This record gives sequence, structure tokens and C-alpha cells, in this order.
Amino acid sequence: MPSFLSPVVPPGRLGGMGQPHLDAGTVHLRPWRNEDAEALVAAYSDPVIQQWHCRSMTFDEALQWVTDARAGWRDETPASWAIAADDGLAGRITLRPHLADGWAEAAYWVVAAARGRGVAPLALQTATNWAFQVLGLHRVELEHSTGNPASCRVALKAGFAAEGTKRSHTLHPDGWHDMHLHARIAAIN
Ligand SMILES: CC(C)(COP(=O)(O)OP(=O)(O)OC[C@H]1O[C@@H](n2cnc3c(N)ncnc32)[C@H](O)[C@@H]1OP(=O)(O)O)[C@@H](O)C(=O)NCCC(=O)NCCS
Repeated sequence: MPSFLSPVVPPGRLGGMGQPHLDAGTVHLRPWRNEDAEALVAAYSDPVIQQWHCRSMTFDEALQWVTDARAGWRDETPASWAIAADDGLAGRITLRPHLADGWAEAAYWVVAAARGRGVAPLALQTATNWAFQVLGLHRVELEHSTGNPASCRVALKAGFAAEGTKRSHTLHPDGWHDMHLHARIAAIN
């Protein structure tokens, strides 16, 4: 049966455009490189990142992760940037796209040494602006555990309005967590 809807972002637009480098003042969003592997292992050895991202990483897994991140762009699965600062890898920002439906889910972490300087909100704002203005998405949303107030601050500072709480929605290593849902809408922001 024919659909009444056309894809909001047509298949092939994201994968066909090549991953951009996005500059945002003190932070720079760039594609992942094999040289990031050591810094990735260090990031995923942080218990706070392990708690909220539910994994650790060996060096070989980090290399595979970089390969998958680069392939993910071409295949239009998660679009992931390294957040680079003057002193090296500062973090990661990812958009998991649902292109035909016009929305994506954002996820991020920042290494312990770079926290508290507004890196995550700036990276989130920058990737979202690109997703609206260049890719043509309509909505970007994110979820964080109600036990992670720092992530709630990131969302609010990046202009992601709070939309409610999903009860007992996501399993973390210590059990089920209630999740706050936040979003930015292209036409509103
Ligand atoms: C949540 C996180 C991404 C914030 O990144 P950031 O670049 O430090 O963001 P900000 O500088 O805007 O700080 C956000 C909040 O973190 C807290 N914070 C400030 N300095 C901090 C520090 N040195 N260490 C830890 N948290 C700090 C504050 O509550 C701050 O809010 P405020 O600006 O209203 O005071 C980062 O703490 C992180 O990676 N945490 C572990 C992984 C994670 O939680 N990922 C998100 C899963 S949804």
C-alpha cells in the first residue's frame, strides 16, 4: 500500500555528503581516527562513563569502534563525532538518525579532565544545528537517567526542553532507571 508520506530526509543524503568537521569556538567536532584508540580506552575506563554508557573498552575494541563509527556515517546508522579540544580528545557526540521520520537521538560523554567547561552543551548545540540546517531533520531528542543531573544540565543549556519522564525505561548496570526526555524542534529553536 503506498505511503502518504515521503521520507523527511531521503535515503543516501547523509551517507553521500561526507562527514563534516564542525568548529564551535573552543571545541572541534571531527571524524574518529585510529589514533583516538588509546584515549577511547582511557575514557571508557572511567566508572562514570561506564555507569551511563554501560560498557568498557579494550584497545582492539577501540580500533573496531573507530572503524564502525566511520562506516556508520556511510551506512546512515549512528553519526558520531570525536570532540577535540586543544589538549586532545575531549569527548564524543553521536546522533542516532531515523532519517525517514525526520528525527535523531543524541548521546554524549566528556572525559573527566574536560568536564565543567561547557564542552558537552556546545558540542550538542553544534551537531544539532548542523542536523537541522544541513541534514534537514525536524527534531533531535535525548534521554538521560533522572540520576544523572549533569546530563540534564547539558540538555537544558543546549536548548533541549524537558518533555517528561519515562518510568523505569532503561537498564543500567545497577538496575532500571527512570529517564528524562528532552528535545529541540527545528522550527522552534
Ligand atoms: C554529563 C557530561 C556529558 C557533562 O559534560 P560537560 O562538558 O562537563 O558539561 P558542562 O560543563 O556543561 O557541565 C554540566 C554539569 O556538570 C556538572 N559539573 C560541573 N563541573 C564538573 C566536573 N568537573 N565534573 C563533573 N561534573 C561537573 C555541573 O552540574 C554542570 O552543570 P552547571 O553548569 O549547571 O553547573 C559529563 O559529565 C559526562 O561525560 N559524564 C559521564 C557520561 C554521561 O553522563 N553521559 C551522558 C549520558 S546521558
